[in-house]
Amino acid sequence: MRITKSSSGKRCVLLCVCGGIAAYKAVEVLRLLQREDCEVRVAATQESLRFVGTATWEGLTHERTAYELFDWTDSAIPHIDLAGWADVVLVMPATANVMAKMATGMADDLVSSTLLAVPAQTPIIVAPAMNVHMWQAPATQANVSLLREREVQFVMPTSGHLACDDTGEGKLAPIEQIADAVLSTSTHHATDKLSARHIVVTAGPTHEAIDPVRYIANSSSGKMGYAIARAAALRGADVTLISGPVSLPTPRGVRRIDVVSAAQMHDATLAAFADADVAICAAAVADYTPMRVADHKLKKSKERLDVIELTETVDILAELCAKKREGGRRRMVVGFAAETNDLIENARAKLERKECDLIVANDVSREDSGFGADTNRVSFISAAGEEELPTLTKHEVAERLLDNISEYLDA
Ligand code: PMT
Repeated sequence: MRITKSSSGKRCVLLCVCGGIAAYKAVEVLRLLQREDCEVRVAATQESLRFVGTATWEGLTHERTAYELFDWTDSAIPHIDLAGWADVVLVMPATANVMAKMATGMADDLVSSTLLAVPAQTPIIVAPAMNVHMWQAPATQANVSLLREREVQFVMPTSGHLACDDTGEGKLAPIEQIADAVLSTSTHHATDKLSARHIVVTAGPTHEAIDPVRYIANSSSGKMGYAIARAAALRGADVTLISGPVSLPTPRGVRRIDVVSAAQMHDATLAAFADADVAICAAAVADYTPMRVADHKLKKSKERLDVIELTETVDILAELCAKKREGGRRRMVVGFAAETNDLIENARAKLERKECDLIVANDVSREDSGFGADTNRVSFISAAGEEELPTLTKHEVAERLLDNISEYLDA
């Protein structure tokens, strides 16, 4: 027997309940989610059932509660089935124990095995609640940091009077905030048009070596490209991220290939594009690279550092556009144009010269837009016309861009 999604199109939420006094608040969150048209199933740890029993969960969900790895009537392999069924997973109240298991990949009961089996594109939200000292313990804090790096989302506990009579951090966040976190996740549905499409994204700067310690670079942080990669993975796309040197964690579910120079980015991007449907070039690739790389640190007293002979790098975007026509299927190549002036004219000239399907004209003259910023101001330029967007977060720009790409592929 397998657990299957209903055809209602409702958001499927797997509520993983752990053994803490705040387990009763998970009942209220479940009700809030049901009111917002979510289908909720419960996976409970054995300890949590001492706080809230199966009768409560089953009365509210009309589904059997899962708490054993074996002998569950709804499925022969409950941890795999439940993890695959969920559009989003909520762990609440998350104990220090369950977070330690998540951080180390331990799978010794139904809940921890299910959490390990959650597909990379499915969001996991964790709402911890515990005693202040358990929360502040270096081991717990290290586990929280590690899980956040892996893109597990947290609804952080607040400070207050705790059930154990201590006062401090560790109180479960307000239930409305936890429900909102679940409802605001963008979830992958098999029906998303980008589901299972292979999308290649370039991000970050390139470093062009002058000698072993010096290089030519720019101030791209990678935030824009990483936001696109993350949003595409959440829509179920198979994402390859070709990244220049940045200090960002790899988005969940994204295959990341690190490169340093424009030449390396060229080789990695072209190879990944061979079987891809879409390429999105958000990287700030150096236009020029030193003709020669010194094999030792240049000495300014003896050697010339004021004149560095440069040669043009290969235009990755233009090459992708030329390759796009191979293969006989509809593929799309999107470029960015970082401009400080005459944004639309310059971007349109790039669209025509490089023959791409869409150019994201990026105004980099403003502090709230472009290199390093969390927000961005862009216009979409294509043969069909121009669309000017307001200042948005890079995540929102990524979502709008992916909507545009979905429409193009569908046409
Ligand atoms: O990384 P962030 O800090 O978040 O900043 C985001 C960004 C400003 C870097 C990004 O939004 C952006 O605008 N990226 C393109 C920057 C750029 O180099 O633009 P360009 O106008 O010089 O290049 C035009 C296009 O050609 C780009 O898609 C670029 O990736 C591509 N190119 C350029 C040179 C080259 N040798 N090969 C290329 O493929």
